[in-house]
Amino acid sequence: MSEVVRSTLVKLQAIIALIGLAAITPLLILVALLGRLIAKICCCSAPKSIAGEVAVVTGAGHGLGRAISLELARKGCHIAVVDINVSGAEDTVKQIQDIYKVRAKAYKANVTNYDDLVELNSKVVEDLGPVTVLVNNAGVMMHRNMFNPDPVDVQLMINVNLSSHFWTKLVFLPKMKELRKGFIVTISSLAGVFPLPYSATYSTTKSGALTHMRALRMELALENQKDIHVTTVLPSFLRTNTDVTQLTHTIGFGDLYPLLTGEEVAQRIVTGMVRGEAEISLPRMAAILYRLILIFPAEWQDRLILLFSRNKFKKLREEHS
Ligand SMILES: NC(=O)c1ccc[n+]([C@@H]2O[C@H](COP(=O)([O-])OP(=O)(O)OC[C@H]3O[C@@H](n4cnc5c(N)ncnc54)[C@H](O)[C@@H]3O)[C@@H](O)[C@H]2O)c1
Repeated sequence: MSEVVRSTLVKLQAIIALIGLAAITPLLILVALLGRLIAKICCCSAPKSIAGEVAVVTGAGHGLGRAISLELARKGCHIAVVDINVSGAEDTVKQIQDIYKVRAKAYKANVTNYDDLVELNSKVVEDLGPVTVLVNNAGVMMHRNMFNPDPVDVQLMINVNLSSHFWTKLVFLPKMKELRKGFIVTISSLAGVFPLPYSATYSTTKSGALTHMRALRMELALENQKDIHVTTVLPSFLRTNTDVTQLTHTIGFGDLYPLLTGEEVAQRIVTGMVRGEAEISLPRMAAILYRLILIFPAEWQDRLILLFSRNKFKKLREEHS
């Protein structure tokens, strides 16, 4: 097939998709609103109390993990503050204990290490009780060189952002199944559905986390574990990590949408978690956007994502070469 015919066909496909999208959008919105209403009436409307439950929050020594720990403590949860950086974890514990009357304890553990997690579980059970809330928050976001990433950095990101969720699931889920209750929250990212150039490892780990949790939800449904809720969170850029903040300024994302604070994201996460919401996108409209964009041919999806950042990424790459 000649290049001209191929490109005409791609354009035709895109135009048909666009017309189709325009035609069915009102119907999609109606179905989504009805779905929300039914979900509110049937299952998600009554938030469950988590007072007295024991939560393990990974990567809780800084940023979003710290904000989630404080929010869970506000709801009455006892918190195991887990981080590879123990002084950060101790700071979080202090902040919790300054305000709330719950029990909180700092634990040093590397989420990529299964044995660390087994030991962590034993200590937490002994100190605070059985874990019924697990927040997979620990994440690594930046390579030392995003244009020519070191294989060690790539592997670390995969281990922390993706593989660790399999180990935490192995360690903490059996008790939840035995007690027939629990919450698993996994922090993915909008980068998992809108991948960014030169962030292939990060985006891949985050879409992997999203898929992992979808599979887990179905497995729990098949096993009739309806009181174990799995929530995946897809936030846009946050102000919590200075390297990420710097990158968003460089690629001009801040001009498109303000960066989110850890506190506002943590509040939304815990509210959604206790209602048993399956996916939380932040900002909210991103959920609609990411579903709508899938209707376009892949080439068009890529172009849409590049629309605002093409020149900035080009410039950034030139500066690094
Ligand atoms: N910052 C953003 O813009 C953004 C956007 C979307 C999603 N997220 C996700 O939100 C989560 C938290 O992000 P953040 O901005 O608060 O990050 P952060 O860098 O501020 O904090 C991450 C914490 O995880 C800990 N950690 C790293 N590796 C660990 C390991 N192997 N074991 C245990 N702890 C480890 C770090 O010590 C740190 O305290 C991450 O999963 C991240 O991918 C962040």
